[in-house]
Amino acid sequence: MPKLIVVNRDGEESTVDVGEGLTVMEAIRDNGFDELLALCGGCCSCATCHVHVDPAFADKLPEISEDEDDLLESSDHRAENSRLSCQVPFTPELDGLKVTIAPED
Ligand code: FES
Repeated sequence: MPKLIVVNRDGEESTVDVGEGLTVMEAIRDNGFDELLALCGGCCSCATCHVHVDPAFADKLPEISEDEDDLLESSDHRAENSRLSCQVPFTPELDGLKVTIAPED
């Protein structure tokens, strides 16, 4: 199974297996990372699933939609490599992707 590396807000790294058809948000949430609130359940309307993505994978990610871009703009912790994890389907080519849960806004 493809693997996702998750760094929590304490800087601890964990590797999780990701089942088919999940988004990065679902993979994080389903593995018990409570600090990723994902309050809207993946509807791209809350920004509580904000992560920083390993820049090495930048060209393998789907493009940012206008809605995602607007929501990220509302975060004090937006960086070059910010994404809303619910907007990133975990495709097999993302195997080994490392994401860091962004600080709380
Ligand atoms: S879960 Fe709400 S925007 Fe991603």
